[in-house]
Amino acid sequence: MSDPYSNLASEEESTQARIADAMEARCLEPAQIAIRREYLIDLELPDGSYAVEFGSGTGHVTRDLISVAGAARAHGIEPSPLMVKRAQKHFADEPRLSFAIGDAKRTDLEDASVDLVLMHTLLCHVPGPEDVIREAFRVLKPGGILAICDGDYDTATARIADFDPLDQIIRFMIDQNVTNLWIMRQITRMLTEFGFELGARRGHGYVAEGEAAYFLTVIDRGADRMVETGILFRETAEALKAEARSRLAANRFFGFMSYVSQIARKPTAG
Ligand SMILES: C[S@@+](CC[C@H](N)C(=O)[O-])C[C@H]1O[C@@H](n2cnc3c(N)ncnc32)[C@H](O)[C@@H]1O
Repeated sequence: MSDPYSNLASEEESTQARIADAMEARCLEPAQIAIRREYLIDLELPDGSYAVEFGSGTGHVTRDLISVAGAARAHGIEPSPLMVKRAQKHFADEPRLSFAIGDAKRTDLEDASVDLVLMHTLLCHVPGPEDVIREAFRVLKPGGILAICDGDYDTATARIADFDPLDQIIRFMIDQNVTNLWIMRQITRMLTEFGFELGARRGHGYVAEGEAAYFLTVIDRGADRMVETGILFRETAEALKAEARSRLAANRFFGFMSYVSQIARKPTAG
């Protein structure tokens, strides 16, 4: 199956809505907010700066460009009309934020017009990520900043012991939902080839906390998908979902993934 995030607009509305709910659950988890803060807080943008998120989904991360990175205005570009509508509705009271349908490979932004481009868990879903990097280079002002953060997907796990069956769902979901597992291990070569200067590179460990809302969406969607693809019978899928909830109730649930962020700058001259 192809990664549904790579062409969300072509998915059934119900699938898009379920993905939007999962995205929102993830954006709002304190551990995820902390990761974004770690790499956005010290970017040192000029006064009055304009920031754009490529692949803005439900818009919560776009808002960080104002509230954390300190941009004066922020814009989100996203191919799924359902996501754009959700973001516009949710942030209707925030005049510094705007959202539009578009493709990060071909935006309608002017050359050298943006101070900061953000790609938060976008590139792992894009076949041909080079085209997105090239577009960021085009739209950034000289000295402008590119901030990229994505999962290091091979590290995703719910395993608490050898042969843990719950972990198979995580492996399956990564296989089904990620186009390039290795993007953050390949990104520095791509950036330097397009002329970016490399800045801070950081690792961020994400441990599911509290109600593990996001990890449960992964397990539920993965178990359902295993039924659709004929791997599991429905009752087995439901039993695995129940196992996750029993672990949570008994304080035995574990969910983890590493994220990696990379800051880069478009050179000021040359
Ligand atoms: C995992 S979501 C992340 C959304 C948001 N950045 C967040 O962290 O909540 C990836 C998003 O990238 C969008 N996307 C995929 N291909 C894209 C492209 N070529 N241009 C712009 N966005 C794209 C998807 O529709 C999806 O909303």
